[in-house]
Amino acid sequence: MIALKTADLQKQKMDTIIVPVCEDKKIHDDSIINAIIQKALDLKEFNAEKGDELILYDLTDLNTKRAIFVGLGKLKKIDRETLRASCGAIVKKCIAAGLEVIWVAVPAARKLKMEMPDVVEPLMEGAGLANHLFDKYKKEKKKKPLKQINFLVKPEAMGKLRRIAPRVNTICAGTILAREWISTPSNEKIPEQFARSIVSQAKKHGLTTRVLREKDLKQHRFGALLAVAAGSQSKPSMVVLEHKPAGAQKTLALVGKGVTFDSGGLNLKTGDSMAGMKADMSGAAAVAATMITLARLKTKSHVIAAIPIVENMPSGKATRPGDIVRSYAGKTIEIGNTDAEGRLILIDALSYVVKKHNPQVMIDLATLTGACVVALGEKIAGVFTPDDKLADDIIASGNKTHERCWQMPLPEDYKELLKSDFADLNNMSSTRWGGAITAALFLSEFSGDNRWAHIDIAGPAYIKKAEAYCGPGGTGFGVRLLCDLIQKL
Ligand code: BES
Ligand code: MN
Ligand code: ZN
Repeated sequence: MIALKTADLQKQKMDTIIVPVCEDKKIHDDSIINAIIQKALDLKEFNAEKGDELILYDLTDLNTKRAIFVGLGKLKKIDRETLRASCGAIVKKCIAAGLEVIWVAVPAARKLKMEMPDVVEPLMEGAGLANHLFDKYKKEKKKKPLKQINFLVKPEAMGKLRRIAPRVNTICAGTILAREWISTPSNEKIPEQFARSIVSQAKKHGLTTRVLREKDLKQHRFGALLAVAAGSQSKPSMVVLEHKPAGAQKTLALVGKGVTFDSGGLNLKTGDSMAGMKADMSGAAAVAATMITLARLKTKSHVIAAIPIVENMPSGKATRPGDIVRSYAGKTIEIGNTDAEGRLILIDALSYVVKKHNPQVMIDLATLTGACVVALGEKIAGVFTPDDKLADDIIASGNKTHERCWQMPLPEDYKELLKSDFADLNNMSSTRWGGAITAALFLSEFSGDNRWAHIDIAGPAYIKKAEAYCGPGGTGFGVRLLCDLIQKL
């Protein structure tokens, strides 16, 4: 738990106090804090460079066993992400040290040339996100998350900041829920299980839920979605979640790719490319976790989520390359490649949302293409939309939460590449180049007249190596971004 606190530093007993220190400027108001920082800086081994760290024990200035000084680097370079990452990294070290309760001395925003919420919020976020271990499958749980993380501010700051901690706690819980779903191995989240897990979490937090099961999908002719599911032993579904507060004017819609495992199907993935495909439901996880978070935050907007859930497997029943299927919207599609499955389940979900809910804005998240990772690397998502204002809003939210996005083009003439000799469209481009763009163009054929954006999160959805405030595994990319965005739209 994260909490905002105020305390008399001379009296308050604190096992551990964390003190962020800037390399070239005093950033704390409190004279006791400044005095102990001076003691730290007097030692040669601590310069407050970014990543620097020093522990001093039994300081007489205050009632604490240890003070951990954390270097933030030079003032000019300190931004929200510096604070988030520094706080996250130190929380991880405190977990490793077996600590239970820590206090963080919050710097004075004015001295950082920032607003107070822009200091407190990322510090709390970094701490909350770092304070999580995915150790469910380990017999021996060597480490435990911290029990309590207190953020120390001056009494007069409490009023203005009081709403931040509960909000950050909820948003971190949402992100962590997405991370856990993504990190769960595919044998423990076959489509039926994943759908059930989403529905039970959603119900618990007051969302309206509806599940289109296999027979409903057949009855209503979700031909593209069903084509992807055909090879699997596990039955597909589409989970629909709704958050409908009284008085909401607009309807927003989210769609998330939920492929619980992507083997490629009959166009089987080769070499190392199949590893990591348990994370091919990261879009679904982010969307479902966002919905739960929006409900918990009592967000004022009306939001619908459609989450198609399938497993892409080869078998005697699997869809073949060359097969032609009819999508929910009625367009026929030649399956040029069974490994281009994400776009197939997404178009049926998008068409369903357009037909049933006609939302003002529709956003889909998907681990859609390796090509997007080639273009932007593993940390940045691609945004595809004909609506530059929507792209700017998405990118701005991503910059705030450090879930970075970059706008990619949607050139009309590239639609040529998706032509089929026999059907209305081919799910595979006729060239290997520009694969992230042609995938997005394929989706655009099904977005109706609504404002729509597609976010390709194939890169940032998953990390193999731990980072400052994320362990190895699912990152939950998108949850914080969407929560920020939706309150703006
Ligand atoms: N799930 C993959 C995309 C992916 C690749 C996600 C790497 C994360 C990391 C997607 O279904 C896929 O297989 N895409 C193909 C498309 C191709 C067959 C047109 C790809 O990117 O190679
Ligand atoms: Mn695939
Ligand atoms: Zn896939």
